[in-house]
Amino acid sequence: MEQKGIVCVEVVYNYEENRCRGILLVLLFSYRQDKPIPPFWRKEKGDSMQYKPLYNGKKLPVIGLGTWKIGGQMTPDYSHDGEAVALVRKAIEMGYSHIDTAQMYGGGHTEEVVGRAIKPFNRDDLFITTKIWSNNLRYDDVLREFDTSLKKLDTDYVDLFLIHWPNPTIPLKETFRAFNEIVKSGRVKYVGVSNFGIKQLKKAQALSDIPIAANQVEYSILTRDPERTGLLDYCRENKIILTAYEPLGKGRVFYNGDLQRIAAASGETPARLALCWLIRKPGVITIPMSSKVEHLSENLKAADLDLPAEIMEKLDGLGHV
Ligand SMILES: NC(=O)c1ccc[n+]([C@@H]2O[C@H](COP(=O)([O-])OP(=O)(O)OC[C@H]3O[C@@H](n4cnc5c(N)ncnc54)[C@H](OP(=O)(O)O)[C@@H]3O)[C@@H](O)[C@H]2O)c1
Repeated sequence: MEQKGIVCVEVVYNYEENRCRGILLVLLFSYRQDKPIPPFWRKEKGDSMQYKPLYNGKKLPVIGLGTWKIGGQMTPDYSHDGEAVALVRKAIEMGYSHIDTAQMYGGGHTEEVVGRAIKPFNRDDLFITTKIWSNNLRYDDVLREFDTSLKKLDTDYVDLFLIHWPNPTIPLKETFRAFNEIVKSGRVKYVGVSNFGIKQLKKAQALSDIPIAANQVEYSILTRDPERTGLLDYCRENKIILTAYEPLGKGRVFYNGDLQRIAAASGETPARLALCWLIRKPGVITIPMSSKVEHLSENLKAADLDLPAEIMEKLDGLGHV
């Protein structure tokens, strides 16, 4: 973080005594603050976040930050970098500490935005997840692309490294040979998968040298596949965190009349209800995305919400109509 200022020196010269009589020195300085910013936000707001344990007890915040569309979609968009970096920084200051990104987001540029955004913060206070795209699951590709992700994120390690989508044309054994090597090098703390069904998940578990920590899948109040297929139960039984992506259905939840009515009757917002419903599920965390500071703040507050059982029941009913 750059601090700006001026250096001002005033010299009072005494002609009679032919020497300087006084010097007034005002020092405001300009320097680059390379030290990480301490996690002051936790002290200020108290840490109202709730956490779920990974298989080894490490705690993950129930609400993390999604980054799809930040820095572009399928291709890089450099035109809003200043705002994008500021948004992610604002989110961290607000209390987001798990940031979910991917090699594919913004054609690789989203990782760069995240890398720039996290720079002033203490790296160990953050939990960074990134994902390798399904075309890059060959052994050499994994090693190369992982290095690229580290460079873009401008960090020495990734907390959680995921396979973004399964690719049936590339043997999973080959992918995990590379994953295991990266884990051994200490540059990844946890590994996981995304969009894997139970069968593929079992294969991954058998091939990984360390336990599969998470499976990131689509799950929301309106999209209940993980419940229907038994994936949620399987993850719980195996201490695999289920990370719910598209928790707001990419905005679709806001058009659901029943949810709007429950929100109006309970004095809550549809976003908070939808997120709270998810994170009250054992073994589930989520990663909503927003480009607006007020939405980021609203979403974060879902962690504080204490919903009465009858509202939870009504919300539960929404996905089964
Ligand atoms: N592993 C995978 O295959 C996969 C797939 C999809 C997504 N993901 C991850 O999951 C994250 C979340 O999914 P997503 O971004 O696709 O969808 P999402 O979080 O369900 O929805 C994002 C949309 O909801 C709006 N929104 C957010 N908070 C809101 C609020 N409080 N009030 C009103 N509108 C609100 C946002 O608009 P505004 O910007 O206007 O707030 C945005 O259009 C992604 O960012 C990504 O990190 C992973």
